[in-house]
Amino acid sequence: MNIDNFHIASQKPKIYEKGDSIIWTDDHISKKLLEIHLNPDIDSASRMPESINRTVEFIKTFCTESSMSILDLGCGPGIYLEKLAALGHACTGVDFSKNSISYAKKTAKEKGLEINYICQNYLELDFENQFDLIILIYTDLGVLLPEEREGLLDNIHGALKPHGVFIFDLLNDTNVEQKFQEQQNWTFEYSGFWKSTPYMELVNGFHYPDEKVFLKQHTIIDESDQVDTYRFWTHYFNCEEVIALLSTRGFILTECFENILPATDIWNGENVTFFKTQK
Ligand SMILES: C[S@@+](CC[C@H](N)C(=O)[O-])C[C@H]1O[C@@H](n2cnc3c(N)ncnc32)[C@H](O)[C@@H]1O
Repeated sequence: MNIDNFHIASQKPKIYEKGDSIIWTDDHISKKLLEIHLNPDIDSASRMPESINRTVEFIKTFCTESSMSILDLGCGPGIYLEKLAALGHACTGVDFSKNSISYAKKTAKEKGLEINYICQNYLELDFENQFDLIILIYTDLGVLLPEEREGLLDNIHGALKPHGVFIFDLLNDTNVEQKFQEQQNWTFEYSGFWKSTPYMELVNGFHYPDEKVFLKQHTIIDESDQVDTYRFWTHYFNCEEVIALLSTRGFILTECFENILPATDIWNGENVTFFKTQK
């Protein structure tokens, strides 16, 4: 193994410097991810059942009509959409994981639910005035880079019908030091989440307090010295910042909701704020 790879991998990168690999569309990883989405005891891809149920109850408070058109961005295997479709809403899900979308299509058919699933990058969304309600769940707006976030908000605004509602959640700035500890851990796997062949994994946590963003970086080095770098930027916000951002993209009547989720860990409870905003 080339020792330089280990040294380079442990350096703090410049803010928003891109990794060279994407987690969601890799064949091996997306199979592992689907298993994790569907495992009710692991909340690293979808939240745990109690949180999902509480979120659906929260979303239902904005379903003012019995049959609304609902779009779920980053729908994964369709856990939220199946619950909303079962209530009679006309549901569409977008996700760029082929594996999750084909699983979602199969289970909707088995359950007799009509859900329109589309395998697409939601940053290239091109709907116009089509949805009463759009959801983006699991702090996913906060993982986008600032220009991607603004572009997505513009596309969501365009995809909503007049007065349509957008619901999403973000990590807030409560107990930031507790949430974001700088870290460096090595592990070795013969076969695991990142690859089916042996690899070393270096996990680094870096905090960029000026930009209010935390980077979790996974560097995977295999026996042939192939290095894959996965970077996950998670921004945290307070309500005022989100209200200001949304108003610059044309949204109105934004409201913040605390403690929708049970207080089971730092990515839950008082650490996550839900938002409802309107076109
Ligand atoms: C953290 S998971 C959350 C899934 C789902 N919202 C839930 O809570 O069960 C993020 C999902 O968004 C999808 N995703 C991430 N970026 C995307 C993009 N640019 N376009 C489409 N889907 C995306 C991933 O494939 C993954 O299924």
